[in-house]
Amino acid sequence: MRRIGILTGGGDCPGLNAVIRAVVKTADEHGIEVIGFKDGFRGAVVNEYLRLTPAEVVGILIKGGTILGSTNRDNPFHFRMEKSGETVYIDRSADVIRNLHHHNLDCLIVIGGDGTLSCARDFMRMGVKIIGVPKTIDNDLKATDLTFGFMTAVDTATDALEKLHTTAESHHRIMILEVMGRYAGWIALQSGIAGGADVVLIPEIPFSLEQVAEKIRQRKERGRSFSIVVVAEGAKPVGGEMTVSRVVQGSPDPVRLGGIGNSISAALEELTGLETRVTVLGHLQRGGKPSAYDRILASRYGVAAVEMARRGAFGMMAALQGTEIVAVPLEEAVDGLRKVSPTGQLVTTARSLGICFGA
Ligand code: F6P
Repeated sequence: MRRIGILTGGGDCPGLNAVIRAVVKTADEHGIEVIGFKDGFRGAVVNEYLRLTPAEVVGILIKGGTILGSTNRDNPFHFRMEKSGETVYIDRSADVIRNLHHHNLDCLIVIGGDGTLSCARDFMRMGVKIIGVPKTIDNDLKATDLTFGFMTAVDTATDALEKLHTTAESHHRIMILEVMGRYAGWIALQSGIAGGADVVLIPEIPFSLEQVAEKIRQRKERGRSFSIVVVAEGAKPVGGEMTVSRVVQGSPDPVRLGGIGNSISAALEELTGLETRVTVLGHLQRGGKPSAYDRILASRYGVAAVEMARRGAFGMMAALQGTEIVAVPLEEAVDGLRKVSPTGQLVTTARSLGICFGA
């Protein structure tokens, strides 16, 4: 093992730099060189890269974002290009393989979520030596108990809930916090528990607004004249659809979610007689420095990825199972999404704490 490549793809999240730093430092310990491709798979297609030595990673442990850049648009198998004024999509996977050979890379470490790691899986099937590292604030990757970045996002949402509590109480209002989570409600559920929410609405449990209103009315009867609602962007009413803010034609992820908080706000105001306000946390959840927990987890993943490369564990992803970092097949990690179980322990715990799911 003499030289490895690394890239960060998909939506960014806190801890990406901590992984890069851990990879570079561990590789350096073993005399392995590291090439970092810029902006996810785009850099590997067009051969834009940086040499990453320990000097390049000084001070980045605590920095949010990624020094390599990232994109959730550029899939090398369906690569967007302009030709004679027209947008066309071309399979440029052969360019990636050529660039990996050009740099004499012994393997490629891909740090990403479901979309990026699915591309990595496709390269693996073409014979590329890939090692995956699980990233996403949504925590919805299979085969790992936790992705790095998630706990920081939960901290950010919990902090927002604490702040909303005091103003909700002063003004006797319903405060709705809309958080990320397209198909999985992990951020809403865990921040809801940590931040003492009264209602948590997640994609996995379609809700009835009447039941939410009933919970708020019961609280009012007990003298609690305010309520805190956390709603995941992908939550939907029973028999209804997710709330779409925009459809961007031609994008690999054309459906942008958002707006569920506002869409339930007026109805809740009417049903309960309480004034309602909405806060959309948005990309604040993806930015900023990683929590101590995520710095440790990201560092463990980075070290493990290099160790996996050294022992030839290709086609595998570093994963947290229990308290141990293990290697799991990449195929397993991208075989569907890991969602909240409506009957699982976390939901039943939340219900025991009095949290209403609107169903
Ligand atoms: O995948 C992480 C995620 O944060 C989703 O929860 C969210 O829907 C999406 O990214 C937003 O992505 P973008 O940065 O393209 O708006």
